[in-house]
Amino acid sequence: MRILVLNGPNLNLLGTREPSVYGTVTLADIETILRQRAAQLGAELDFRQSNHEGQLVDWIHEASGRWDTILLNAGAYTHTSIALRDAIAGVGVATIEVHLSNVMARESFRHHSMIAPVCRGLISGFGAQSYLLALEAAVNIKVV
Ligand code: DQA
Repeated sequence: MRILVLNGPNLNLLGTREPSVYGTVTLADIETILRQRAAQLGAELDFRQSNHEGQLVDWIHEASGRWDTILLNAGAYTHTSIALRDAIAGVGVATIEVHLSNVMARESFRHHSMIAPVCRGLISGFGAQSYLLALEAAVNIKVV
């Protein structure tokens, strides 16, 4: 099982960014925790972050045939990006939408996800744990 984790804009600021919303865990902390769990589950994992929409699109394209599942926290692009939606739909790699915060409990502009309709599922609101839950889901997608 090969899992690609993609993080979008501003997630490199985790740890200092709006700690009342996102906590103090850093993206490096999340990567460490995920890698440990992936090793336990026997999954191969790559973990990337970009602030650039086109880079995320390129990584989604490259995932075709190389990665079984994408865990995608697209950050604010979740709510705006038709390009990401089309990329996910275009490559046909199972993609799980991930958010640290509960987007439905926040501003109304975060209630709509451009990518949700083309994702396999959505995990939101559990902080860093959202990534771990998504990893568990990714590993189990094929058995249930
Ligand atoms: C986020 C939620 C988005 O609305 C926001 O723009 C982010 C982070 C989350 O993980 O909670 O950048 O994706």
